[in-house]
Amino acid sequence: MSQLVRYGMVGGDEGAFIGKVHRRAIGFDERIQLVAGCFSASSQEKNKKTGQVLRLDPARVYDTYQDMAREEGKREDGIDFVSIVTPNVTHFDIAKTFLENGIHVMCEKPLTFTVEQAEELAHLAQQKNLLFGVNYSYTGYVLAKVMREMVAEGKIGKVISVNAEYPQEWLLDDLHPVEGQELSLSVWRKNPEIAGISNCVGDIGSHIENFVHYITGLKIKRLLATVNRFGQPLDLNANILVEYDNGANGAYWCSQVAAGTLNALAVRIYGDEGSLEWQQENPDYVRYTPRGEAPRTLTRGNGYLKEKAAAFSQLPTGHPEGLHVAFGNLYQQFASAVIAHREGQPTDGFDFPRVQDGVNGVKFIHAVINSAKNDSAWVHIN
Ligand SMILES: NC(=O)c1ccc[n+]([C@@H]2O[C@H](COP(=O)([O-])OP(=O)(O)OC[C@H]3O[C@@H](n4cnc5c(N)ncnc54)[C@H](O)[C@@H]3O)[C@@H](O)[C@H]2O)c1
Repeated sequence: MSQLVRYGMVGGDEGAFIGKVHRRAIGFDERIQLVAGCFSASSQEKNKKTGQVLRLDPARVYDTYQDMAREEGKREDGIDFVSIVTPNVTHFDIAKTFLENGIHVMCEKPLTFTVEQAEELAHLAQQKNLLFGVNYSYTGYVLAKVMREMVAEGKIGKVISVNAEYPQEWLLDDLHPVEGQELSLSVWRKNPEIAGISNCVGDIGSHIENFVHYITGLKIKRLLATVNRFGQPLDLNANILVEYDNGANGAYWCSQVAAGTLNALAVRIYGDEGSLEWQQENPDYVRYTPRGEAPRTLTRGNGYLKEKAAAFSQLPTGHPEGLHVAFGNLYQQFASAVIAHREGQPTDGFDFPRVQDGVNGVKFIHAVINSAKNDSAWVHIN
């Protein structure tokens, strides 16, 4: 049976941010080929131009995602999956449309505006027996997989505390509004109509939630939070205290107004037998401290790391891999699942974030905002 996996993209025109990152990352896997797209809804010029640059058949560059889903769903050689890289407000309708046309989905996070929408997508994917991945990209790093394996093997014992953060500084100017000038919502992440009920927590806090869950397997039972809007419609900073199902606590902080920070996702996982510490900006290394011993720094690709996680390495140790490879690892697993699905084989074992992770993410975002609105009351997540 063919090993070729055809995909189409919705969003990601030439001027967009994350679509290009997806395309480059997918390019690491020679089995996956871009054959269709609807790269922009607001500008057909940009849409067609992007199709030309990507050397697509013009007949498969569609004016709307609805046309694309319908036509690709009918073709013998239609796309196996769609990659959705549009702003948050559109995810639900686009994902639903492709599922209804029998096409697997890989969607950007946060999955949807509401928990009900996210659950509807999960239900539909299950009903149609289709794969649904959510692009929690940081779980694609080799060292994320190594940490996950180490926790599962008991290297740090029982997890008793987690401390994680994701600070950025790029919206710091919003703290200095110019007198007489209206608030700028030109950045869609700040606009509730496009971003949803949250900016900072939805954009980067949700990465913390998923990343910690991926590594530890812990589920958040309840949380309390404060968010700071600094006069803006949506949050720019949040502090969150969580309680996991094993009784341990975690403290999360995310910010877009932390001067001197870029994409400084960092996690510290403390167990009763040791700890792990990892930073996104130095992703090939993890600091491991077994109880009673000196800390040590592990890197990917060396014999002392387990085969399973280390097998995701694409370059010899010492050559930095980075975010593109992390995205690529998710797609490599997703494409393998698509092929397995086509061959009637099980798909559960492939390592990419699922629609349920997307549902959990939306629940997390809503719980944080609800808690903050209610004087930081505890909010249960079921
Ligand atoms: N996983 C990550 O690390 C990560 C990083 C960045 C962004 N994101 C997510 O990716 C998504 C896109 O973010 P971005 O920064 O690339 O946004 P962007 O504004 O740069 O790009 C959005 C693209 O979607 C297109 N678009 C919008 N509506 C469309 C429609 N109906 N049909 C076809 N195309 C449409 C726009 O023309 C544009 O090309 C967001 O949900 C964001 O949260 C995730």
